[in-house]
Amino acid sequence: MKNKVFISVISSAVIAFAMTGCSNPSQVTAAASPSYSQAGIHTGFKDNFMIGTALSADAILEKNHSTLNLVKREFNAVTAENVMKWELIHPKPNVYDFKAPDRLVDFAEQNNLFLVGHTLVWHHQRPDWIFENRNGSKVSREILLNRMEEHINTVAGRYQNRIDAWDVVNEALNDDGSLRESLWYEIIGEDYIEQAFIMAAKAAPKAKLYYNDYNLFEPAKREGAIKLIKNLQEKGIRIDGIGLQGHYGLYYPDLNQLENSIKAFAELDIDIFISELDITVLPLPNGENQGADISLDIKIEDKLNPYPNQLPSVVQAKLAERYQEIFAVFNKYKSSINRVTLWGISDANTWRNDWPVKGRTDYPLLFDRAMNKKSFVASLPLAE
Ligand code: XIL
Repeated sequence: MKNKVFISVISSAVIAFAMTGCSNPSQVTAAASPSYSQAGIHTGFKDNFMIGTALSADAILEKNHSTLNLVKREFNAVTAENVMKWELIHPKPNVYDFKAPDRLVDFAEQNNLFLVGHTLVWHHQRPDWIFENRNGSKVSREILLNRMEEHINTVAGRYQNRIDAWDVVNEALNDDGSLRESLWYEIIGEDYIEQAFIMAAKAAPKAKLYYNDYNLFEPAKREGAIKLIKNLQEKGIRIDGIGLQGHYGLYYPDLNQLENSIKAFAELDIDIFISELDITVLPLPNGENQGADISLDIKIEDKLNPYPNQLPSVVQAKLAERYQEIFAVFNKYKSSINRVTLWGISDANTWRNDWPVKGRTDYPLLFDRAMNKKSFVASLPLAE
């Protein structure tokens, strides 16, 4: 019932943006739901799931704390966007940099925020030395397992009672559901995932231990993840949850596929969460040259970066509608989903400005470039 009311609020707001061509649509929905828009986003979802964000090193170390003040008002969970990745926290053998991670842990603890460590074992954002002997040749399985263990003990062990959950392994699957042939896989073998979870459970016995990946709405990849999780469960190795990253767009994923994945993961009796939500409004670099309109004379760059100055109100309305329908799915499965984390705070600093094409102007998050909460946030559907 409540959802229906909110849907009708958002629909009127969508129509209002489209009709007025308003460049600052905040005026439209703020009037529709003023009390909620003043409160932190997490309070609106308190009966459903936590609402989190990812924090960059700049935000963590900022002198005037203005970003952190916004974060503690709006969110009740935080994830380290980069500062706990191997290349930053452990750039050289025996060299660790805990400055930003320690600050983040203090901040989360002082403000009672659920803290996710991201990530212990991943094929990206890690230094090459991990896999190499002094002469540049590849290390043995044994050496790599030792390095993995030393890293997990040092990092997860340092924060063992202070980090609530770890993304232990990130992106181990190909889109067809098979295991990615990363150097971890190549050198250790497919049990590197088991080993990482066993090591993490020893180093941080109280932390939740998670597997995290993208495109988990795709049926083949969903099956691969189910296999990976069941394998751990059958061997008695602790895995507590699965993170669906949630790097989405205006036209993907298919919401039925998303629902099917949530339902299937719910049967595994583990936590489910959306770990890295953002919704790009920009075109994908491929598949844009269909059709045969010979009057088109668009430079490729302009075509790929269509809103360098501001987002047209019709596209803003589409983004609002998309957030609305995606949150409606999350709400439907609120008993299975324990957290929805946005991958960043504002459009000014989102990684999507640089991915999959560098230097674009994207609008995927809930705060605009001036750090104002977008008007449609007030109309996101709440629990029934
Ligand atoms: C991204 C960060 O947001 C960027 O700042 C960084 O340059 C690259 O990595 N999947 C993940 C995240 O698990 O760690 C990635 O974060 C985005 C994709």
